[in-house]
Amino acid sequence: MATEKKVTAIKNTPRHLLGIQNLSVLEAKEILTEAKSFIKLNRGSSKKLDVLRGKTQINLFFEPSTRTQSSFDLAGKRLGADVMTMNMGNSALKKGETLIDTAMTLNAMHPDIIVIRHQDSGAPNLLSQKVNCTVINAGDGRREHPTQALLDALTIINRKGNIEGLKIAICGDILHSRVARSNIYLMNMLGAEVNVIAPKTLMPKGIDSLGVKSFTDVKKGLDGCDIVMMLRLQNERMQGSFLPSKREYYEFFGLTPEKLKFAKKDALLMHPGPMNRGVEIDTKLADDINVSLVKEQVELGVAVRMACLKLYCK
Ligand code: NCD
Repeated sequence: MATEKKVTAIKNTPRHLLGIQNLSVLEAKEILTEAKSFIKLNRGSSKKLDVLRGKTQINLFFEPSTRTQSSFDLAGKRLGADVMTMNMGNSALKKGETLIDTAMTLNAMHPDIIVIRHQDSGAPNLLSQKVNCTVINAGDGRREHPTQALLDALTIINRKGNIEGLKIAICGDILHSRVARSNIYLMNMLGAEVNVIAPKTLMPKGIDSLGVKSFTDVKKGLDGCDIVMMLRLQNERMQGSFLPSKREYYEFFGLTPEKLKFAKKDALLMHPGPMNRGVEIDTKLADDINVSLVKEQVELGVAVRMACLKLYCK
């Protein structure tokens, strides 16, 4: 388990949420506690608060996104912020503008929060050095996706009561996955044991130094696990051939009801989405409400993003 850093309220210190790696246990727990308070609100008929009234939130998405983008959009609106979402495929970037020029342009309009998703690892960190407002990382390259890990943690806590003492398997394209990295940091920090499972070609070298056990055999990796997180093959980040074929990948690594039996009897299944049915996951299993937490992850994602926006925006 990671050691606890100095105790500080989020509001007074880091104004940016750039990753789980530089978060303290207390900060993570503060976000999760705050998020819990929004679950009920989001299920009610009146969902609007004025916590961020008068604040401007810009969602800057340089990569495609369905869940994360809509979740940040709704989260900001439910807290009363003025939210503008920019899909950067249509921006001046196409005309050759750099990330920094874009940041300076937006900064001149006095936003209070910028939520950024970018294909380059470290882009949110760079942005945070150039603007005056809060920066929240919505996924950068293969580095981190902190709000995804936080919503995964909240989903597990909601079902299992706690994360401490659980055994969690993360299975699939670990090499290219920012979700895997953020979850490894967070689940370890909250006291879980983490197994990572992948074919050799999709397993990062030295991954064990992050405090996980690595497996290329699904049966061994799933043994005794309470939670099984499946990951998509991140084809957009692959240069060259990492796998013989998708069919073969499914046979050895795709989660089927038969393979899930290697985990604990009451094991639950998670997936950050988008799912590739028949590649990393059996389609019936993905929809099986007795084991799949996929919809709950999406639901609680809004609550987690509301908590992050509220706690990080001064
Ligand atoms: C993930 C991402 O973008 O990193 N998706 C998400 O945010 N829900 C995982 C993925 O793209 O496979």
